[in-house]
Amino acid sequence: MTNNSNNPTLVFPAVNQAAIDFLIAARQRGERTICAASVANEEIAAEWGGSHRLPAIYDADFAHQFLDLVETQSIARVFCPVAAVHDFMRKFIAERKLDIELIGQSPIRQQVEAHRRLIARANKLLPLIEACAEGRNALSLIEVAGMLRQSSLIYGESNDDKLAALMGIFASAPQGDVVEIGSLMGRSAFVLLYLAWRYRVGAVLTVDPWMVGNAIQHDSPEQFQALVDEWDFEVLSQGFYINMIPARTDDHAHLRMPSDQGYAIYSGTEPILSQLARPVPYNKKIAVIHIDGNHDYACCKKDCELWLSNMVPQSWLILDDYLWAHGDGPYRVGNELLVDQADRIERSFVCGKALFVKFK
Ligand SMILES: C[S@@+](CC[C@H](N)C(=O)[O-])C[C@H]1O[C@@H](n2cnc3c(N)ncnc32)[C@H](O)[C@@H]1O
Repeated sequence: MTNNSNNPTLVFPAVNQAAIDFLIAARQRGERTICAASVANEEIAAEWGGSHRLPAIYDADFAHQFLDLVETQSIARVFCPVAAVHDFMRKFIAERKLDIELIGQSPIRQQVEAHRRLIARANKLLPLIEACAEGRNALSLIEVAGMLRQSSLIYGESNDDKLAALMGIFASAPQGDVVEIGSLMGRSAFVLLYLAWRYRVGAVLTVDPWMVGNAIQHDSPEQFQALVDEWDFEVLSQGFYINMIPARTDDHAHLRMPSDQGYAIYSGTEPILSQLARPVPYNKKIAVIHIDGNHDYACCKKDCELWLSNMVPQSWLILDDYLWAHGDGPYRVGNELLVDQADRIERSFVCGKALFVKFK
């Protein structure tokens, strides 16, 4: 047996989502794979070129049939996405001194290590969260880890430092609506929903048109503008609602439209409905606003002009991408705001590339 990288990897048992995830990643890396299972998963077999039948690991004939498959298919590596099989295979390979690599740690070990890494990540952010909370009731380690874990499952553009600062400033947020302009698939929206509930701040409104015409940022380099062509905007929309399901809130509505149209609806008298078609109790005064829509100077400026007229005393603005590699719209708008409204501003700082402003 040669441990050649052109030789296929055996996925055994190819029966669960971890197996599918491995098969997808291997295909992206250009690696060959072969599936096997005692009871084949028909869907996996159909998509991944069939599934060889092997007896259960406890079967007397397992060793013979497994070694035969390894020999005939020139298997170099084995990936075992089931803890009991991984443990069995580790011992089997060692005892027989087989020239086969068992890929990765056991599924149980992976969980333990992933949990420890998550706790370390959350622990590292606690001082920042506490500093932003200024001695008020900051989130616990468990809550921070929970936010990081759930928001990391959501594709998005908000980094740990920005989310941590968000978690901190909510401790001093007054009561009022929580608004987000620009949600993408909902990474920051998910955190805002939890924080608005946790600190009993108010109902959440998110606004994003998920439309190519709005997504292009004309002030940015052409190479960057072209990225919007990769999106399927219906995936963005459906993905957002799927990602919000664990937040379980009826105190949230999304307006699928550009922020100026959203502002007209928000300012009007018609009820704004949640996903469950219930009117959301907005009080039309904003406690926290996250402006993260189109970053062209003109759009960002307009977002601030419209929405900041509704801020309550002690409210917070988070202007995203104040420091940004692809343009300076939020930077210019933020700097103008810091000068023009200096007498309204109690505190400001930059964290995770975003500008945080607390109004008096
Ligand atoms: C940087 S992404 C938002 C990232 C998100 N907050 C997160 O945490 O992952 C910018 C979003 O702004 C949206 N957008 C573009 N123009 C907009 C507009 N006029 N009003 C509201 N949203 C807009 C885009 O569709 C895109 O989803």
